[in-house]
Amino acid sequence: MKPKKAAAILTVLSSWLLGVPLRLKIIGMVTGIIILFAATSLYIIYGTLIGNMEELMEKEGRSIALELAYQAPDYLLINDLYGLTRTLQNTVRNRPDLRYAVVNDRSGRIVAHTFGAGFPYDLLDLYQRGEIPSSEISLRQIASNEGIIWETTAPIMQGDEGRVRVGVRENAFRQQINRFLNSFIWNFFWVVLIGLLLSFYLTWLITRPIKSLLLATRAVNSGDYTVSLPHCASDEVGSLTSAFNEMVGQLALADEARREKEKIRRDYLQRVIAGQEGERKRIARELHDQTGQALASIMVGLKMLENSADSQDIRTKIGDLKSAITAEMATIHHLAVNLRPSVLDDMGLVPALEMFIDEVRKRHQLKVGLTMIGFANRRTDSSTETCVYRIVQEAVLNVIRHARANEIKVLLEWRRDQIRGVVEDDGRGFNLETMTINDRLGLYGMMERAELLGGTLRIESEPGQGTMVVFALPTESQGEEIKND
Ligand SMILES: Nc1ncnc2c1ncn2[C@@H]1O[C@H](COP(=O)(O)OP(=O)(O)OP(=O)(O)O)[C@@H](O)[C@H]1O
Ligand SMILES: [Mg+2]
Repeated sequence: MKPKKAAAILTVLSSWLLGVPLRLKIIGMVTGIIILFAATSLYIIYGTLIGNMEELMEKEGRSIALELAYQAPDYLLINDLYGLTRTLQNTVRNRPDLRYAVVNDRSGRIVAHTFGAGFPYDLLDLYQRGEIPSSEISLRQIASNEGIIWETTAPIMQGDEGRVRVGVRENAFRQQINRFLNSFIWNFFWVVLIGLLLSFYLTWLITRPIKSLLLATRAVNSGDYTVSLPHCASDEVGSLTSAFNEMVGQLALADEARREKEKIRRDYLQRVIAGQEGERKRIARELHDQTGQALASIMVGLKMLENSADSQDIRTKIGDLKSAITAEMATIHHLAVNLRPSVLDDMGLVPALEMFIDEVRKRHQLKVGLTMIGFANRRTDSSTETCVYRIVQEAVLNVIRHARANEIKVLLEWRRDQIRGVVEDDGRGFNLETMTINDRLGLYGMMERAELLGGTLRIESEPGQGTMVVFALPTESQGEEIKND
């Protein structure tokens, strides 16, 4: 495999492993170690046992073959083949692992064996396949239908009188080894099971505080600073838990300070807005009552003067003065209405907005639509009415000043305990994100006003796509029914 490919596979494997939950990682690690340990032990034990078995069989075959080779000449010298056969048979009978014993004479002919009437044909065939007579002890393995047979051949009197062959069965040894392995595997299985249960328990013990930490972090993330984790252990996780609790404590303090500051800011803003509205109301009233009244008195005086004047020239001049005063009175009226229309306090939102929109229609070449649903015979508190009026006023004035629009639609709906409004234009739109806070104080003021009353306001606009100001304000009650009595 190319090193690049191997590195890529390793990277994929590592990232996969990192993605596996911690619990599975620990359990996998423990299981892997147990299996590796057991497999290695099994391999070593099995190899040792097989090695021992082979050594044992070799020794057993050699000792039996030598013993028989030592006894055989006594029978062969007097040609007592019956006696030789009986000795072979007795030996086989006394040793359960010994499958057979055969004696060949010098020429290789079988003179005695333990197979009774039927000497295995395959074995005979094997013996007849030109074996070199040797004066050494030799060992070979023969595969038979009864399993592997370890055959030891020992020379009788240095091979002068023939050879003794004994076949030792491997099966019995193998069976013992298998029995041992069987019990080993069963024991191993129990060890794995206990190991797994232990690792489950350990994993639970280790990951439990981490899981609580995770849940607590999520809670803190969603603004809950009251969470505190119990001290679970003195290890690294325990230290982490303590550090976390400390951090949450600090965050709670910081959050409290932030809330306090926010509250002060809101209170201050509320007072500033209320003060501003009060001041506007006072100035508007003064303009209307005092300045307006004064101008009206001057007007009456001028009329009287006009009537008593003899000269046409003086009458014309008085007429000019009257026109100037009439224009001034209209300006003062407009100024007072813009500052704060008294109709808003006296008659409510619907007539105030209708008056404002009428004024906009008169003064600007714009199609302005005003739809108010659910306001008939209802009034809410003065601060909400003022807020709605100011938001609509600012949004409409913005369209007039910046949008170059042909049409404005104002839609207000009072449904259940909420007043919702939309001011929409088909003008050139703008990109809110690119503006600094100083460039959008009017928009910021609208949002602040809405938020101070627990409402929301959002602006949707894109260059070339027009602008839409959408707001919603809660009303304290269903609104007061105005009785027309
Ligand atoms: N309906 C609109 N269409 C196009 N541009 C708008 C619209 N409303 C606001 N803007 C843009 O957003 C800017 C910020 O508006 P904002 O009302 O905050 O400030 P302003 O109207 O310029 O000044 P003021 O503080 O007197 O209201 C405006 O300068 C204008 O560029
Ligand atoms: Mg503005």
